[in-house]
Amino acid sequence: QSQSTVSITVVGASGDLAKKKIFPALFALYYEGCLPEHFTIFGYSRSKMTDVELRNMVSKTLTCRIDKRANCGEKMEEFLKRCFYHSGQYDSQEHFTELDKKLKEHEAGRISNRLFYLSIPPNIFVDAVKCASTSASSVNGWTRVIVEKPFGRDSETSAALTKSLKQYLEEDQIFRIDHYLGKELVENLSVLRFSNLIFEPLWSRQYIRNVQFIFSEDFGTEGRGGYFDNYGIIRDIMQNHLLQILALFAMETPVSLDAEDIRNEKVKVLRSMRPIRVEDVVIGQYKSHTKGGVTYPAYTDDKTVPKGSLTPTFAAAALFIDNARWDGVPFLMKAGKALHTRSAEIRVQFRHVPGNLYNRNTGSDLDQATNELVIRVQPDEAIYLKINNKVPGLGMRLDRSNLNLLYSARYSKEIPDAYERLLLDAIEGERRLFIRSDELDAAWSLFTPLLKEIEEKKRIPEYYPYGSRGPVGAHYLAAKHKVQWGDVSIDQ
Ligand code: BG6
Repeated sequence: QSQSTVSITVVGASGDLAKKKIFPALFALYYEGCLPEHFTIFGYSRSKMTDVELRNMVSKTLTCRIDKRANCGEKMEEFLKRCFYHSGQYDSQEHFTELDKKLKEHEAGRISNRLFYLSIPPNIFVDAVKCASTSASSVNGWTRVIVEKPFGRDSETSAALTKSLKQYLEEDQIFRIDHYLGKELVENLSVLRFSNLIFEPLWSRQYIRNVQFIFSEDFGTEGRGGYFDNYGIIRDIMQNHLLQILALFAMETPVSLDAEDIRNEKVKVLRSMRPIRVEDVVIGQYKSHTKGGVTYPAYTDDKTVPKGSLTPTFAAAALFIDNARWDGVPFLMKAGKALHTRSAEIRVQFRHVPGNLYNRNTGSDLDQATNELVIRVQPDEAIYLKINNKVPGLGMRLDRSNLNLLYSARYSKEIPDAYERLLLDAIEGERRLFIRSDELDAAWSLFTPLLKEIEEKKRIPEYYPYGSRGPVGAHYLAAKHKVQWGDVSIDQ
């Protein structure tokens, strides 16, 4: 539509997220030809900066895709020319009115559509939304606001935030990002399940023994301790990223691929979940560890973390969905910082083959005979299915092999960053991958009682060395539910 224009304002433009993710994603979209013909990008933050200074800052963050080096430099120049800057306070109507004036100049009388990306701390969300909506929203097109977690700290604060935002915005103007939903393999989850006959019939308690959602990072909270200490790993990763994946994994078939149909099913699953029992949760915190002459810090060594903090940097939990499909199937989650590896994966462990002929004959360990489907979200995106196979030769020996779909071997295209997908969807008004307010409420209802109990009782985390596999308690928790955690290092 040559008569309309999209103005994207990155509020909090000098922050980390803007530099690391938002500007590079916008450039990638531009490079791919996904942005509309008429668009303008504005950086907005408190620091004084000129357009040229913003362009310099942004240019340092842009990269070219490995497969698309060709005219990348040229494209960057073109892109940077479309980037501008406005300095202002986040709670100043006056400064947003000035921004509005500048946006209008760029829109040059076309239909104006405006997207605000709030890349700012949560305590100023509402002020910024108020100013943007009252002083800088579009008069003849749409106005949308992208907000990034934390959406509160519990049910009450999240509901209060939603209520405040809704004073200025309609629900369909609010795009709550959970960037895990923009990851390629998370998006693929529904494709895998609903468009392959071999999976959907197996997707229930009848064939699935347990499901695991595992997130691990091999670095600590370095530099982010101030934010992190107020939230902890359960709020940072489990209540949003892992729970969202769980909902997509476990939902019933949606009526269609429409955003509302999908989100209806996700909410249903979340609302069918049993309250999490505190005895089904293990929490941990990393402590200092010396390896190969290098000393890695403890969580509490971070200057921005209060001394003696009990905030968990690791948690494992067993969750249950009380519906006909999943009755009794443990859904295990594990998330931790400063562990031995960086990865995010979904593991589906299937039941034993009933009366397995080969177990009987070979007397082999039962555990070796079960199938496991692994969806490796990152790094080295892959989907593989562990099967039993006969070792070639004259004897009858079985081993476990993988049917393996390794993305880098199968697809030559570089996988887009999650923020590219999500920004594009927000521009196009596609809400499928954004969190609706009732989903958010359901997610908080599940975790709030647990968090309250852990925090009020000042539960002591189990300490684990930086770079280790985390607290042993996680293994006992799994064993209690007759589960063994899958592990990438023993898969190959
Ligand atoms: C963020 C968390 O939401 O996700 C961070 O706040 C975490 O603590 C990050 O490091 C992980 O994202 P990714 O895409 O790097 O796996």
